[in-house]
Amino acid sequence: MVKVTFVSSNGTRREVEVAEGETAREAALFNGVPGIDGDCGGVCACATCHVHIDPAWIDIVGRLMEGAAEAELLQFAEGANQYSRLACQIPIVTTLEGLVLHVPAQQY
Ligand code: FES
Repeated sequence: MVKVTFVSSNGTRREVEVAEGETAREAALFNGVPGIDGDCGGVCACATCHVHIDPAWIDIVGRLMEGAAEAELLQFAEGANQYSRLACQIPIVTTLEGLVLHVPAQQY
């Protein structure tokens, strides 16, 4: 299991455990993390799993790839910035132990 911490827009921190191979979206949904809806089922089609990667982790997780479907979706997301990613596009691996993800104030 890999520990991931979600930080809400009001600063509330929630540490969850997720199995390697699942995604950050699943880590949130399986643990009832507020603010991550993941409406499309994790197929990169809704942007309701938008998260901001903690700056300390952005180079490990990786930034958005220009022109990718994920980047196309996020350009319309509320509060998108240089740390934005879609949680459904972040597979959890052991090197992400301790990952910190920030949940935007809103997804719509
Ligand atoms: S769950 Fe829809 S884009 Fe991630």
